[in-house]
Amino acid sequence: MIFDKFFKKIDPDGALAVLKTDIHSHLIPQVDDGAFAYDTSIDCISRMAKLGYSKICLTSHFQTYGFKNDEDDILRRAEELRQTIAENNIQMELIVGGEYLVDSGFRKRMETNRFLKMNDQYLLIEFSFNQAILGISELVFELQKLGHDIILAHPERYLYFHEHPEIPKTLKDQGVFFQSNINSFGGFYGKRTLKESYKYINNGWTDFLGTDIHNRLYLHALVNTCKDKKFRKMLDTHSFLNNTI
Ligand SMILES: [Fe+2]
Repeated sequence: MIFDKFFKKIDPDGALAVLKTDIHSHLIPQVDDGAFAYDTSIDCISRMAKLGYSKICLTSHFQTYGFKNDEDDILRRAEELRQTIAENNIQMELIVGGEYLVDSGFRKRMETNRFLKMNDQYLLIEFSFNQAILGISELVFELQKLGHDIILAHPERYLYFHEHPEIPKTLKDQGVFFQSNINSFGGFYGKRTLKESYKYINNGWTDFLGTDIHNRLYLHALVNTCKDKKFRKMLDTHSFLNNTI
């Protein structure tokens, strides 16, 4: 029936298998504004397995004033989460990184040069959402000199990037990898961010996709984005580096 075809629902299951790895998540309970308890982490991880992921990088927040996490503590908690999902018979590989906010204490962190990096290679950083940091390019250059491959989290969400596209352009020219949030493509963060997320795709600037999942609300939005025709078409027609992780 032609009407059946017209109204055929898009199945979200398996949609993200092509990515294989989620590189951005907040699923270690009670260390930041992510999962509050194990049952949330378990729900999210098991549903993410159905969406097609086989590996998740845990990227808890590292901030100087907000979520002051400690690398060793995060590694310990990640192991506890691994045990918990194994006990619940969920098949998912969990690796550990961090999402480091470039704030006023960041340079001090650079002195010790201790970071949790994805595969010991990629350092995920984020900026303030509403205020540009002076000397971003110099800082990125110094980080690269220290041997880090830099991934910038959700560039489509920084308000000053909207008005000053020369900032992300410079970062791309410097070899910074960009990671967009999948939920940006579903409108979860608003229309402007949605528009920006496709602009980055069209510019060829998006190297990775990430869920940036915090809780069931994000999970719900993620499933809905996987049902979105335009997003699925974009996924079919572009390639990302997620499956190299
Ligand atoms: Fe995040």
